[in-house]
Amino acid sequence: MNTKKFAALAAGVALALGLAACSGSGAGSASTASSSKAAGGLIGVSMPTQTSSRWIADGKAVEAGLKAAGYQVSLQYANDDIPTQSQQVDQMITQGAKLLIIAAIDGTALSSQLQAAADKGIKVIAYDRLIRDSKNVDFYVTFDNYKVGVQQATSLLVGLGLLTADGSKGAATGPFNVELFAGSLDDNNAAFFWKGAIDTLQPYLDAKTLVVKSGQIKIEQAAILRWDQETAQKRMENLLTSAYSDGSKVNGVLSPYDGISRGIITALTNAGYSGATFPIVTGQDSEIDSVKLIADGVQFSSIFKDTRKLAAQAIVVAQAFLKGSTPEANDTKSYDNGVKIVPSFLLQSDIVYKDNIQKLLIDSGYWTAAQVASGQA
Ligand code: BGC
Repeated sequence: MNTKKFAALAAGVALALGLAACSGSGAGSASTASSSKAAGGLIGVSMPTQTSSRWIADGKAVEAGLKAAGYQVSLQYANDDIPTQSQQVDQMITQGAKLLIIAAIDGTALSSQLQAAADKGIKVIAYDRLIRDSKNVDFYVTFDNYKVGVQQATSLLVGLGLLTADGSKGAATGPFNVELFAGSLDDNNAAFFWKGAIDTLQPYLDAKTLVVKSGQIKIEQAAILRWDQETAQKRMENLLTSAYSDGSKVNGVLSPYDGISRGIITALTNAGYSGATFPIVTGQDSEIDSVKLIADGVQFSSIFKDTRKLAAQAIVVAQAFLKGSTPEANDTKSYDNGVKIVPSFLLQSDIVYKDNIQKLLIDSGYWTAAQVASGQA
């Protein structure tokens, strides 16, 4: 992620905020509220890791948008290490943060920090990933995670020719060998993506149009701790050695995240898959290196979650809380965190294929044509 990209994201958030202020119930009141709270108004933003470009984009977009709205920001990344994230959140509270925006590494690990926040009247917004097992989560901004899973499975079916991109029946009949990957089990989203995907694939599995040759069809078997690329590569290598040593071929792989997809693609390439018979591999986040792989015809699809919109939404919610009002939710039933249903605002995602990279990612200013061509931000 380079400075140009950050600037573009910042501009996107500022624009989104501007639009929100203009189209909302009171453009004037929204901006007055933010500027009057600006003095001394520190907001803590806790992000999981910098190993994935999406979280860098999220962090920078939230930070830029909050600053543009007049707040001070403490943005911290936790290297996917739970004690580090707990410590960073503790520190934000000690530093006097007025509100916390948190994308948790382990959705269950922050209860004592959140209690400390609640004791001081600090509102907590769960960002992208639900924080579980605590009553002290005030709001959740995310994408429709079940639908992301549906989209991932749909793109697998499209790639195999069982569906067309418009959702009608495709010309292919199968059967096809597929393998399934899931995300990190300590991330609440992983189960949502998996459920959306499996619900979509189940009729094809039942009809044996899709066959999971390894037999690994439980989320516990498919899960990749911390969404780690190398762990995914190793699992794919093991699957190929154990289930495909008889000369049979894998035709498709359901992958929930671009980093995992890159691990899978490396394993497949090392095993000799190439060209037209390269398996259909799905993904998520439209990370730049994976968008290039899609443009090159290696990875088949990814899900595009516009992090600029998520950041802007988090800021709208933060501003509502800081002004003492109740933020608007568009879902008050899906996200039970084990203690309560957390009011949520869900955004919509899109499926990226080779032929809509231009429209979804380049025309929207998310990536430039040069970045797609080079695979580098
Ligand atoms: C996010 C995904 C991301 C994954 C790995 C999930 O919580 O919703 O967008 O691919 O984490 O970082």
